[in-house]
Amino acid sequence: MTTGERIIERPFPPAAIAGSSSSLLPVHVGIIMDGNGRWAKSRHRPRLFGHRAGVRAIRPVLDAFHARGVHILTLYAFSTENWRRPDDEVRGLMRLLGETIDRETDELHANGIQIRAIGDRGRLGGKLQEKIRMAEEKTRENGGAILNVAINYGSRHEIVEAFQDAVRDGTDPLDLTEDVLASHLYTKGLPDPDLIIRTGGEYRLSNFLLWQAAYAELFVTPTLWPDFGAQDIDAALEFFAGRERRFGTTSDQVAATGKKHRA
Ligand code: IPE
Ligand code: IPE
Ligand code: MG
Repeated sequence: MTTGERIIERPFPPAAIAGSSSSLLPVHVGIIMDGNGRWAKSRHRPRLFGHRAGVRAIRPVLDAFHARGVHILTLYAFSTENWRRPDDEVRGLMRLLGETIDRETDELHANGIQIRAIGDRGRLGGKLQEKIRMAEEKTRENGGAILNVAINYGSRHEIVEAFQDAVRDGTDPLDLTEDVLASHLYTKGLPDPDLIIRTGGEYRLSNFLLWQAAYAELFVTPTLWPDFGAQDIDAALEFFAGRERRFGTTSDQVAATGKKHRA
């Protein structure tokens, strides 16, 4: 087990949850940041121009969620399937990830944000792995909020690895339970996402948090990721507040608890 994985095992800071006092507000939001390529194309610019604009969009989004009381965000930055893209785009994205960690870590740290990464790090370049490890190490004691970045992340791979990891740890495959499997996922220690937002208009999960999002509310906006901002966040949170989360029960049962968002 790598050092990075050990960090993820730690429980999320209580402050990150305590900050969300209303059950009408999601505790954990996952975002599929899609549409950078189309954003660039509409400007007759190369795809990497869109990815750079996409990176610039992140900070204001973090600040806006934080200001609204949402303190755990998981951002889908690079999927296990994104290696299929043209070599120059993949190389550019990897470079951009490294540069972004270099540029942003100190300020995120100063703001009390804990940085985590989920995904299969083994396939990333050594330097990028080291940058991720350092960012996690530096910010691991921070309790203000959690920024969880999915890099070379794919849910199917995560679930298979979790199963293998559990068996290696001595679990008899026939004794495997949901809780045991969940405790071997990259997201162990984090609450499941309550809300998944996808920009760029596609109604699909693209291998993102398939297990963890079992009961997440889904919000899709046509806004392309570089244009995503406060208005879209308000729309997503308003949508979430209007949902009745039943978790398999009935509306009457939910009404009897007196809470629209019973977990
Ligand atoms: C999402 O934007 C960013 C990554 C997948 C890295 P895209 O690059 O997929 O943008 P579109 O979907 O082509 O517009
Ligand atoms: C999902 O976007 C992955 C990320 C946002 C990192 P994609 O652009 O890769 O998704 P598909 O291929 O359209 O499903
Ligand atoms: Mg896309």
